Amino acid sequence: MNVEEGRHLWAMVYLLHAHFGRDGREEAEELLMRHSGDADKPRIPGTFNEPMDNWLSFFMFTYFTDRDGKFQLKSFAESAFDPLARTTRFMLTEEAHHMFVGETGVGRVIKRTLEVMKELDTDDWKRVREHGAVDLPTIQKFMNFWFTSSLDLFGSESSSNAANYFANGIKGRPDEAKFADHREVDTSMSIKVPDGQGGMKDEDISVRNGINEVTRPEYIKDCNVGVTRWNMAIKRAGVPFELKLPSSRFRRSVGVWANVPTTPEGQPIGQAEFDARKDEWLPNEADQAFIKSLMQRVTEPGKMAGWIAPPDRGINANAVEYEYVKL
Ligand SMILES: [Fe+2]
Repeated sequence: MNVEEGRHLWAMVYLLHAHFGRDGREEAEELLMRHSGDADKPRIPGTFNEPMDNWLSFFMFTYFTDRDGKFQLKSFAESAFDPLARTTRFMLTEEAHHMFVGETGVGRVIKRTLEVMKELDTDDWKRVREHGAVDLPTIQKFMNFWFTSSLDLFGSESSSNAANYFANGIKGRPDEAKFADHREVDTSMSIKVPDGQGGMKDEDISVRNGINEVTRPEYIKDCNVGVTRWNMAIKRAGVPFELKLPSSRFRRSVGVWANVPTTPEGQPIGQAEFDARKDEWLPNEADQAFIKSLMQRVTEPGKMAGWIAPPDRGINANAVEYEYVKL
C-alpha cells in the first residue's frame, strides 16, 4: 500500500512537471516536502497528521480515509484535463485494494472479538479486554473518530473553491454521467446548517457551491456497505450489538458544523454535555493505551496476534501460513 501511495504522489508530481512549467515544478517540490505529522511541513488535511501507532487505526484509516481518496479520485476521473482524468482512473484500481485491506482488517478484528466472546461465553466487555481482544464499543469509538475525520476531507458544505473547480472543469462529481445537468448554472440545493440557537435549519445554496455536499453523502453510503457486512457477522454470532456510523454533523472540524458540539446522532448539544460524554463516543487515553498494549509482534508464519482472526485466505491465494517475509 505504501509503495502504491508513494507512486500516486509521483504521478501527481509528474503531471505538475509535465504540464505546468515553473509553477508546477515549485508546487511539486512543496508536495514532496510534506510529511505526515511533521511540525514544520505537515500534510495539509488534518486526517493525514493523526498518529498512526496501532493496527486498528491503520485498518480504520484504510477503510474510511482511503475511501475519501476513492471519491476524490472519482471526481478527478471526470476532469476535463485529460492527463489528470486518466491517471486518477488508474489509481482507483489500487485504491480498491487499500479499502479491501481496511474492510477485511476491521472484519478480522471483529471476528476475533466474537470468537473470544463465544469462548468465554460472555458479553462482559471487561472480560473480552482482559482476554486480549477488542471490545465492540471500542471498535465503535475508533470508527467514530476515523469516519468523522475523513468527512472533513470533503471540505465545507458550501464552498466557492468547489464551485470553481467544477465550473472550470477541473473536477466533476463522482459518476458525473448519472447526472442530467453537467453545468449546474442556475440550480440550487438545500443543506442543513446550525441555526445559532442550538438547533438546525435548511439553507439554499447553488449546486456549484454545494458540490462537496453532493459527494459526501455518496461517500457515506459507500462506507455503510462494509459496516453492514460487519454487523451481519455480529448478528450471526448472536451478539446484540450494532455498529453505526455517526451523523455527518458529529465532531466536525471543517464546514458549517465545525466545532458545533452534537451527539453521534447529530443532535446539537452544549459544550459541557459534549465534554462530559466524549469518552463514551471517542477513543480516550485508556482506550488508546489498551489498543497499543495489544500491539505485540507475532512473526511465526500462520500464527496470529490474539486480537485478530486469520484472514480467510492468503495473498495471491497462498496458504495463510505462507512465509511472506524472511526475517
Ligand atoms: Fe489509498
